[in-house]
Amino acid sequence: MPEFNVTQLTESVLNSYAGAPDPRVASVLRKLITHLHAFVRDSELTLDEWTRAIDFLNRTGQISGATRQEFILLSDVLGVSMLVDAINHRGEAGATDTTVLGPFYVGEHRVTPHGTDLAGSAPGERVLVEASVSDTAGRPIAGAHVDVWHADIDGMYDSQKPGYRLDEPHLRARFVTGSGVDAGRFSFRTVMPHSYPVPTDGPVGELLRAAGRHAMRPAHIHFVINAAGYQPLVTHLFVAGDSYLDSDAVYGVKPSLIVRLEPHDEPTWPDGTPAPARWYRTSYRFALRKETPA
Ligand SMILES: [Fe+2]
Repeated sequence: MPEFNVTQLTESVLNSYAGAPDPRVASVLRKLITHLHAFVRDSELTLDEWTRAIDFLNRTGQISGATRQEFILLSDVLGVSMLVDAINHRGEAGATDTTVLGPFYVGEHRVTPHGTDLAGSAPGERVLVEASVSDTAGRPIAGAHVDVWHADIDGMYDSQKPGYRLDEPHLRARFVTGSGVDAGRFSFRTVMPHSYPVPTDGPVGELLRAAGRHAMRPAHIHFVINAAGYQPLVTHLFVAGDSYLDSDAVYGVKPSLIVRLEPHDEPTWPDGTPAPARWYRTSYRFALRKETPA
């Protein structure tokens, strides 16, 4: 009969999970229990702290739903999302760098024509994004699905606003990359993204305040790109010059993803339609890595 005390309990727990039929499940559980017990032992967790931790996790789940993903946000602000991302994207020469999905992806967006203005009458400086999708050798990929979303001038995603409807997206779209002379290309107009705080009205906000951390993310546009035969690409483009590039609350910035938005004062957009007095333009080529054979 083992003694379930501070020194022997961990081994008993490990033994009781050792028979998991799936070797990966057995291996992950062994490491999880080992590290979790070491954490509890090292920190000499009090009963009160344990109760508060359980309550924190309960509330993290309770506040989550179809349009709010507090657990993803928790993973993000603890750096776990970027660590998982880094482990799973090692050695991808020529492929675009990846970063966090973030908590505001709401699934597939409506397919939208190239050049569409995603912002409508929303306030903000106007930006033209001209982009393409290729393989790591630079060969264009036609028919790739590109989901785009970003926050408005107030730093809010449409899904954070009262009355949000999935079928009425704002600053969100899906593009399908072109073929022929437009092979791999897509473009859109929108408003200048701004830096914004991650939501701080839930458990993650409590965590950030307890740690004395700010909640800001540098201005960015999200992209998820899927193409048959290639690994999905989850990434952002960050706006050069943003004051939070060095201290992103979720550790998502990579230098290769920072783009300059060049100012323009021509009276028309490249397609000949009237442009505001000052507008901005940027371009980027996303490179996808081939799917690993099963
Ligand atoms: Fe974001």
